[in-house]
Amino acid sequence: MKNIAILISGGGSNMKSIIKRSQKAQWLKRYQTQIGLVLSNDPLASGIDWAKGQGLSTAIVDHKNFLQEENPRRAFEDALIHTLEPLAPDLIVLAGFMRILSPHFVSRYTNKLMNIHPSLLPAFTGLHTHQRAIDAGVKFAGASVHWVSDVVDAGQIIDQAVVPILPGDTASGLASRVLTQEHLLYPRAIENWLKTQAT
Ligand code: GRF
Repeated sequence: MKNIAILISGGGSNMKSIIKRSQKAQWLKRYQTQIGLVLSNDPLASGIDWAKGQGLSTAIVDHKNFLQEENPRRAFEDALIHTLEPLAPDLIVLAGFMRILSPHFVSRYTNKLMNIHPSLLPAFTGLHTHQRAIDAGVKFAGASVHWVSDVVDAGQIIDQAVVPILPGDTASGLASRVLTQEHLLYPRAIENWLKTQAT
């Protein structure tokens, strides 16, 4: 049995699309793979309630609880590791998870940590990607699924989806068209990875 953990920070629309795909495509039966945990760093993330409603295990590791520690990021990451360890995750999927993970966490899960970023990497790493793409005058935006490395948004690209930028596009209009593609791209990238793992 393989275990996938999904890390979110909010509504988790990508998480929902992955879980729906896992159910529809029968990942349990076909790939002996389950979504073993949905974890949020934000206790108010509505995606957690949705995941509970699907009968999935959920956890909250609130990064704010560690702000008084000498090294808050490390303490938060140790708590994340502590929560993930019983699951022995084969894959950790970052889906709208809005905390930067340091090498302390990333090196522990080399080649097991996947992220989606709403740009055509290596262009527009970081935040506000859609506005920056519009401002730069590029004609195509999109989304990238990549392995997480020590450098933010710079790990090996797994798959991408292209979305044209239309005349007069706004950041929010573009973001919603990109998000629609993310919902197809991320489950597909994970399923392709599962196929490579099948024995
Ligand atoms: C998505 O664009 C994702 O790529 C980015 O955060 C946005 C929201 O994702 N990292 P979700 O609805 O929380 O999955």
